[in-house]
Amino acid sequence: MRLSILGWISLSVAIAKKPNVLILIADDLGWNDISLHNSYLSTPNVDGLIQESLHLQSYYVNPICTPTRSVLMSGRYQIHTGLQHAVILGAQPNGLPLTDPVQPEIFKDCGYRTHMVGKWHLGFYDEKMVPENRGFESHYGYLIGAEGHYNHSQFMQGQNGVDFRDGGASTNSSWGQYSADLFAKRVEDLVEAHDVEESLYMYVGLQNVHYPLEAPQHYVDQFSWIKDRDRRVYAAMTKSMDDTVGRIINSFKNKGIWEDTIVYFTTDNGGSTLYGGNNWPLRGLKNTLWEGGIRGIGSIKIPGVSADKRDQLMHVVDMFPTLLDLTSCPNTRKVKFDGKSQAKMLVDNDESQSDSFLINIDPLRKNKGADNRTWHSDFDVRVQAGLRWQQWKLLTGAPSSDNYPTGHIYPPEWPQDGRKNSQSNFESSNLNVRLFDIDNDPLEDFEISNQHTEIVEKMLNMLSSYNSTAVPCRWPNPDPAGLPDQNGGFWKPWINTDHKLRFHNF
Ligand SMILES: *[C@@H]1O[C@H](CO)[C@@H](O)[C@H](O)[C@H]1NC(C)=O
Ligand SMILES: *[C@@H]1O[C@H](CO)[C@@H](O)[C@H](O)[C@H]1NC(C)=O
Ligand SMILES: *[C@@H]1O[C@H](CO)[C@@H](O)[C@H](O)[C@H]1NC(C)=O
Ligand SMILES: *[C@@H]1O[C@H](CO)[C@@H](O)[C@H](O)[C@H]1NC(C)=O
Repeated sequence: MRLSILGWISLSVAIAKKPNVLILIADDLGWNDISLHNSYLSTPNVDGLIQESLHLQSYYVNPICTPTRSVLMSGRYQIHTGLQHAVILGAQPNGLPLTDPVQPEIFKDCGYRTHMVGKWHLGFYDEKMVPENRGFESHYGYLIGAEGHYNHSQFMQGQNGVDFRDGGASTNSSWGQYSADLFAKRVEDLVEAHDVEESLYMYVGLQNVHYPLEAPQHYVDQFSWIKDRDRRVYAAMTKSMDDTVGRIINSFKNKGIWEDTIVYFTTDNGGSTLYGGNNWPLRGLKNTLWEGGIRGIGSIKIPGVSADKRDQLMHVVDMFPTLLDLTSCPNTRKVKFDGKSQAKMLVDNDESQSDSFLINIDPLRKNKGADNRTWHSDFDVRVQAGLRWQQWKLLTGAPSSDNYPTGHIYPPEWPQDGRKNSQSNFESSNLNVRLFDIDNDPLEDFEISNQHTEIVEKMLNMLSSYNSTAVPCRWPNPDPAGLPDQNGGFWKPWINTDHKLRFHNF
């Protein structure tokens, strides 16, 4: 059969290249740390990106870095990868298991070019675990989590070490240069060199606005009116991050590929008020199960879908299957996703595909609280855990460390008289079981477990069944062989395998 011209055109459209995927992960960016939510700060590029995207209003992440990134990358809850306790430390032989396929591997199978710039934090003790051996053609950036923004050096386990990689090897050559600028430049270079006939998957782990609090002086000067020193530098870091995001957006625009790009912007967890961040009006902070730790800033721009808001519940665990759906890429590695594709919800403003998500179950955090209420469920309520189901949020154990603030933390740069809106009449800190109705009480002012014991019992049973699928929590001691004094002053892979690295020299 002869193909008509029209038939040929639609055929070539059908086999047209897939949309690019750009993932931007801000580090520790709090709910109140973009100017869209807090006009005292200045993040016009991030605001603009969110406003040309679907702004996710009921969107959740994990309370800390490694778990969120592992869930995004693997599509699996941290209770299924052994990463349910904390972040990966230098010299700690821990990481996202190699048996869990990650996004870039599947996008590579789907014909994408895959590049990564910035933070990894999913393990590196074995060379097989670094980004270049997990589906990325190149990685420029760092492997752990809280290094200096200028010296790329991290103090841990009693030692300083440089943590910076380029072309599959550790390097100290960018010592003294601010990482937000380095990362913007590398993305610009990669996008400029990209062949537009191919599809691009670009994963950018921004270092800002994670502590240590450091920003170029000209940014700090713009916020000299903020009296609180930490908040002043933090505001400068958000501005610097925003400029980096602006440069990345422009590089895609200059290349003429912005319109064909899916752009997912997310924080990895709530802001740390201990280091300049803020989540007002949400309760709590990073590393707590309060909303301030887990309700995230997030947006997704999908080619052909008009900018809008989405109020439907969505969790970062849904993002991997969602991206595969949006790009029509098959699940070539047979990942058993814990989340659901939310593509229909996003594209058609349909209902959410899930009415619950697991916040966490951390067997290594056990509360000593004197709550003597008994429940039918066998779930050990002393253990720190959390679950969202419909409007309900159940927390067990202690939602945060003892020395953390438990309330709503007022932004230091705001006029002091606003403080009177802050409620501080909270439940006893001894409770082992807490229930909140997030739809009606998003600020978690009213603990209602005694009023709704049947909901508590149901949710404890749900937690118990999640727990029955959990793998043991992995939290190994640091390995002395991984310390910088054994590795030329670097934090780098230290366990040699016969695996051959394929270095990508940019
Ligand atoms: C690197 O910079 C951080 C933040 O300023 C600082 O705390 C740390 O001491 C520096 N490390 C080295 C080795 O200079
Ligand atoms: C449980 O604790 C409450 C408050 O401390 C106390 O009044 C009550 O007697 C305790 N109940 C039991 C059964 O121990
Ligand atoms: C989870 O299951 C394990 C294995 O059965 C059990 O030892 C542990 O107590 C359970 N955790 C909780 C929080 O109930
Ligand atoms: C990195 O370079 C700085 C500046 O030259 C130097 O002080 C530091 O010792 C170097 N670190 C390593 C691990 O080479």
